[in-house]
Amino acid sequence: MQVLLESFISAWQALVSDEDRTTLIDALEAGKILYFYSLAFSFSDFEKKFLSPHWLDGSRKNISLQGDTVRGARGDESDLQQLATMMSRFAGQATQLVQTLFPQYGEQLRTARTSYRPARVTHRKASWRKDDSRLHVDAFPSRPSHGERILRVFTNVNPHGEARVWQAGESFADAAQHFLPRIRKPLPGSAALMAALGITKGKRSEYDHIMLHLHDEMKADSEYQRCAQQQRIEFPPGTTWVCFSDQVLHAALEGQYLLEHTVHVPVSAQQHPECSPLHMLENLIGRQLT
Ligand SMILES: [Fe+2]
Repeated sequence: MQVLLESFISAWQALVSDEDRTTLIDALEAGKILYFYSLAFSFSDFEKKFLSPHWLDGSRKNISLQGDTVRGARGDESDLQQLATMMSRFAGQATQLVQTLFPQYGEQLRTARTSYRPARVTHRKASWRKDDSRLHVDAFPSRPSHGERILRVFTNVNPHGEARVWQAGESFADAAQHFLPRIRKPLPGSAALMAALGITKGKRSEYDHIMLHLHDEMKADSEYQRCAQQQRIEFPPGTTWVCFSDQVLHAALEGQYLLEHTVHVPVSAQQHPECSPLHMLENLIGRQLT
């Protein structure tokens, strides 16, 4: 499968024909990466000082925006305020893009986090589970999604001409078929216990249990990482790409300086709900998972 669908759209709020919208949403929901090769995010002159990893406070690998404040960054109050302003501008533009391209999702979109990643991609040999240079699908251990989709907008803002390099893997259905036989059912009562202990925010559904194990089994399997079908993709600075990261098998190999904004989409809002990981897994397993 050709994993990229290239688009000439070069504005966050572009005029898009109905035909192009249909092509884009069909490709997105089929598990492709929409690649906007002329869609850039600009830093103002005074914001260019944020193009340095020194703004990270060392507690985490990314700076995140929560409400109108930044987490994981260090600096004086006015610097942090300017950083938050830059990140909220990106979040606003990413939201505009999603609303323009996929009006079908309408009011059902739920805004999640925005992150700024000024650190160079590292290969975390010490912790395979946290090593995003291994192929994986995104799944959140502490925030059960119950099937809700993870739609992400990424923009490479590297000022030195360096591409963000991804590896994209085989289709979700093929990967699920490969790993499902290894995934056992959750222990009875474990979801309620994890919620009661505050390990998860709400009860983890069987869907969440399977997605987390899919993430872990895939990353832990060195032979799969080496031999599975995959392709290298280079996203130069000044480009933007959008995908359902709970469906597209991806690995971040190289790069520095990335902005990312996440929105959640309920399966019921999809044009092709049968293409969602929830429905694909339910079909393979033969029972309801939420
Ligand atoms: Fe990821």
